[in-house]
Amino acid sequence: MAGKNTQSSGLDRILTLEIARVTERAAVAAARLRGRGDEKAADQVAVDAMRQELNRLPIDGTVVIGEGERDEAPMLYIGEEVGTKDGAAVDIALDPLEGTTICAKNLPNSLAVIAIAEKGSLLYAPDVYMEKVAIGPGYPAGTVALDATPTDNVHSVAKAKGVDPHEITVCILDRPRHAKLIEEVRATGAAIRLIGDGDVAGVIHTTHPDETGIDLYIGIGGAPEGVLAAAALRCIGGQMEGRLQLNTPEKIARAEKMGIIDPSKIYRMEEMAQGDVLFSATGVTDGNLLAGVKFARDAISTHTIVMRSSSGTVREIKARHQDLTKF
Ligand code: FBP
Repeated sequence: MAGKNTQSSGLDRILTLEIARVTERAAVAAARLRGRGDEKAADQVAVDAMRQELNRLPIDGTVVIGEGERDEAPMLYIGEEVGTKDGAAVDIALDPLEGTTICAKNLPNSLAVIAIAEKGSLLYAPDVYMEKVAIGPGYPAGTVALDATPTDNVHSVAKAKGVDPHEITVCILDRPRHAKLIEEVRATGAAIRLIGDGDVAGVIHTTHPDETGIDLYIGIGGAPEGVLAAAALRCIGGQMEGRLQLNTPEKIARAEKMGIIDPSKIYRMEEMAQGDVLFSATGVTDGNLLAGVKFARDAISTHTIVMRSSSGTVREIKARHQDLTKF
């Protein structure tokens, strides 16, 4: 499978399952505040819960994609050290609540997500926008590219899939900045799934077009979400490119501090998430691939996808938690 890589790694196998607990805990916390119209409160409880669980993991971890810079985020900030320190030195990309507005409005596809990789393996991306294009597994290398036009990308995916462009669906964030992109994609005859938020889910949805109805993701979203999506695709298989939107001297300077010398570089998926990568996502609200958290009188149910790039193993974990004192 694409993304599979047999190189040895310092990551402990057991972590592949342990990280499920981290996103489960964050998802349950956020889900309690679904539909309350309070993005900040939902995000805060998810952050607290994820941090608490992360600090139980036997890792010597550093957050490299997190809630923000140290001065703007008190917890899970970039550079925060997490874990018990008893294990491998790892870098962590996380978003305890991806799609805060989705959760506040109780709409589909908000997630709790985390990626863990060997030190130095994840792109240290500043919190700016990133232009992205992504498809799932099973396509020849180079089927999509950021240097190609949206029209060319739609035609290329349709050709590789053996269908007419009318049978392709492109997922795009519903933003004014995408007006021209939407117009161009519509002109190809392709359908568009406009999403209000949540482009990590948008990218992951390209990996199961039969279930999600989405073949291709195009558009500009957050760079941290780009790295998380690349980590997921590295595990499941697929292709993705990202280009940071470093369009002011201030952003260029911020990126330079993080080691990014060429502001217009196009990053391939393998450059955004290298080596052995573990990824976990738990549904907060119901979605196309993951069910949201369900609360019953005697149990809480969660639905999680966990995966590892070096083995290519993708597990779905449907858990029923009966010890409610833990949540
Ligand atoms: P939050 O979870 O931080 O609210 O992010 C939601 C999101 O839709 C991301 O999925 C996406 O990458 C980004 O916001 C897009 O940014 P913007 O809302 O500024 O267009």
